[in-house]
Amino acid sequence: MIGRGEGRGKAFPKGRDKPRNHQFVGGDFRMRMLLAGNWKMNGLKTALAEIRALKRGLVDETARADVLVCPPATLIMEAAKAAEGSPIAIGGQDCHALASGAYTGDVSAEMLRDAGATAVILGHSERRQYHGETNPIVAGKMKAARRAGLMAILCVGESDKEREAGHAIRVVAQQLEASIPPELGASDLTIAYEPIWAIGTGKTPTTADIGEMHAAIRAMLGKRFSAGGETIRVLYGGSVKPDNAAEILAVPNVDGALVGGASLKAADFLAIIRAAPRR
Ligand code: 13P
Repeated sequence: MIGRGEGRGKAFPKGRDKPRNHQFVGGDFRMRMLLAGNWKMNGLKTALAEIRALKRGLVDETARADVLVCPPATLIMEAAKAAEGSPIAIGGQDCHALASGAYTGDVSAEMLRDAGATAVILGHSERRQYHGETNPIVAGKMKAARRAGLMAILCVGESDKEREAGHAIRVVAQQLEASIPPELGASDLTIAYEPIWAIGTGKTPTTADIGEMHAAIRAMLGKRFSAGGETIRVLYGGSVKPDNAAEILAVPNVDGALVGGASLKAADFLAIIRAAPRR
């Protein structure tokens, strides 16, 4: 399940100490995959039909993976209604650091929650690039997500220049270090590694490069959260499509995907969800 305070089922009676996104498999924790769709600034009311189609398509898929759709803020309330009774959770794409106030045009984490969201994408490279969001600004929003009880999906990733210069891992380490505020716990957090040069370009890193970065992120989370670091899902994002999803989702330490363009059509997103290994 997505979102703090949910999924505190009988398997984990102590609630948030236990990872909500895991299943007991042979006495061990295994992370369920999370397939998250980021619709970005796409979708009028007619796009709600895609949520309904996704819901129909997921009837037999409940055990496979967790599914999240992040539509534009204008559709969250209706999307949450359309998803009712299905395994689809709804999320926002950004939030303000404060709960309310004179901030024309902004939406708070509490408002997202009130509208039916259980998660929020934060620090996406498009927010960093077009809205000047720095790591400290993202950290403020991460705190807001926690305050409102939303699962924060923190996006990190390097530019092509940074990768070519051999600095990809260092850049991502700095983003993680500076964007996750001290009060955040492992159970509040999902990471999405999205190399900027792979977003919307049709280019993807090699599976070896994805594996290297995800292993590095896992190690960084281990340092920061000790054993809790093992329980944080690390998604890959950037040109995930039905035809490359299986290969990407099979990479060690990849616990799901954050999907842009291919999440807009239920048929494509369903194909990606079906490519996820059952865990
Ligand atoms: P694309 O899947 O369209 O490359 O977008 C990835 C992304 O930015 C998801 O947040």
